[in-house]
Amino acid sequence: MTSTASNLLDGKALAASIRAELAQRIASLAAAGRPQPGLATVLVGDDPASHVYVRNKRRACDEVGMANFHVELPADAGQAAVLAEVQRLNQDPRVHGILVQLPLPKNAGYDENEVLAAIDPAKDADGFHPLNQGALMQGRPAPVPCTPKGVMRLIDHSGMKLKGCNAVVVGRSNIVGKPLALLLLARHCTVTLCHSRTTDLAAEIGRGDVVVAAVGVAQLVKGAWIKPGAVVIDVGINRNQAGKLVGDVEFEAAQPRAGWITPVPGGVGPMTIAMLLENTLENLS
Ligand code: GUN
Repeated sequence: MTSTASNLLDGKALAASIRAELAQRIASLAAAGRPQPGLATVLVGDDPASHVYVRNKRRACDEVGMANFHVELPADAGQAAVLAEVQRLNQDPRVHGILVQLPLPKNAGYDENEVLAAIDPAKDADGFHPLNQGALMQGRPAPVPCTPKGVMRLIDHSGMKLKGCNAVVVGRSNIVGKPLALLLLARHCTVTLCHSRTTDLAAEIGRGDVVVAAVGVAQLVKGAWIKPGAVVIDVGINRNQAGKLVGDVEFEAAQPRAGWITPVPGGVGPMTIAMLLENTLENLS
């Protein structure tokens, strides 16, 4: 494939079409006298990136007609205060999805796993509750983490047939890399999960019919490593030395080799938010 804009996987446009469909579903619920779906967002501390992410999630709720119940706590609120808010939201019948923005403030004594486990698994908007993570591992239906779910939609949108493919995931986080590896495995890919101790990243990536980069290291994945025709999904959002937003993939060099590639921004980010809304709506039914 030559270097044209035609191999761009446009997450912004795909997410907008998903939001439009969700807005219609929410409007039909209202017409049928069903409750309005509601998402609770819990934001602890003052990490600027987390504030931006949560603001975008709240805006998306407004856009599709979903109620948003927002809770903000100071960085030093403490574990008990966060748990108390989660319990309150668990009991609130207007709330169908609960999201606690991660990471919780560092060096403030928070136990993220305890907070995630306190969320009612039936109201888990992120698919981070241990019961839902276990269901994903066993291939049982449950809310699926939003970023991996959005990545799978983008791959499907490219038209790539996953069965039998080599899929290479870079990054082993609980939020993206690990659940994504399970989703690709469930679609019959041969999955390689790479991370910071992988000895020959170039060789692993060179075998990938699908490559997903989710490590948070600017332009770690070199364009020259990409197998010609591969679908390349870039989950990273980093600032380079010039202050420009760049992904985990060296985009300019990768685009001419890739069959399909996501831009940063405008690739995975908007899909994560669309999947959050979808998960919340699915908890209602
Ligand atoms: N931090 C980074 N990504 C996510 C996400 O998808 N959900 C939550 N709750 N926190 C995050």
